[in-house]
Amino acid sequence: MAHSPVTHAVVPAAGRGTRFLPATKAIPKEMLPVVDRPAIEYVAQEATDAGITDLLIISSHSKHAVEDHFDAVPDLEDALRTSGKTELLDSINRYRQLARIHSVRQGHPQGLGHAVYQARQHVGERPFAVLLPDDLMHPEEPILRKMLQVRERLGGSVVALLEVTPQQATAYGSADVSEVPLAKAGLSDIEGLADGDVFRLNRVVEKPPIDEVLSEYATVGRYVFDPAIFPILETLEPGRGGEIQLTDAFAKLIDVPVEEGGGVYGVVIRGRRFDTGDKLGYLQALVSLGVEDPELGPPLRQFIQQMGL
Ligand code: G1P
Repeated sequence: MAHSPVTHAVVPAAGRGTRFLPATKAIPKEMLPVVDRPAIEYVAQEATDAGITDLLIISSHSKHAVEDHFDAVPDLEDALRTSGKTELLDSINRYRQLARIHSVRQGHPQGLGHAVYQARQHVGERPFAVLLPDDLMHPEEPILRKMLQVRERLGGSVVALLEVTPQQATAYGSADVSEVPLAKAGLSDIEGLADGDVFRLNRVVEKPPIDEVLSEYATVGRYVFDPAIFPILETLEPGRGGEIQLTDAFAKLIDVPVEEGGGVYGVVIRGRRFDTGDKLGYLQALVSLGVEDPELGPPLRQFIQQMGL
């Protein structure tokens, strides 16, 4: 049975960015540039490339800049047009090619689950994607597109899985999983998927202590949810850190019957992923994407070689 295509996505961007202070004291972390554009633009581009047409940003009072980035600036446009700076003009208008951007504010942030719950009215009874903007996927890894295709075939919800060490697993959702053979599940023709990439989740816990880590698979950054998650989020008690945890909500979806939108699958990320909310992850993203930039790449590589590190 084919399920309807997913057109809506939610980007929770109300976090304080404390891991990146003092850089994020006055600037939203989502606006820190990665090469030549803010991190949030990569996320909006990735969603658009995966077929998302409507993107809701969960914002806060200190995040005007994120909303402004996806808006027109008539006087700057005029100035660039008058001076013939067409490439720059195109760069500030790139947002027009992206999914339609909306925003809603999370007045009193109470965790990631609470942030996603703010999308309930906007999303309604549709399935939807969630993209955490700290997780920057290299454009060569279309993980969201693969996850959306799995959702269309199997229904339920789909989360991105990352292979991690037990120590790393304590910083993420940790999942107990069983492999889903592609042929048996009718997934063999999905481009970029191989056996060993798709799993069914049996259990998941948020940031477990090291002796309670469930496997080498962590749930990170990209999710596709059945709307059945909303009634769960509505009454969910605070979990780890006293916050309403998204992981606790989809943990409950595992046991919901398939006919009611239950079941959770995982797709393993095989390409590069950067945690741009972390200082080191951010630097790694800058260098990796910088050396691949057609214009900046060659001189940047030369500079790195000259440094002789
Ligand atoms: C959040 C989620 C966690 C996930 C992580 C990385 O945690 O709660 O389950 O593994 O993002 O995508 P945070 O890093 O915001 O504390």
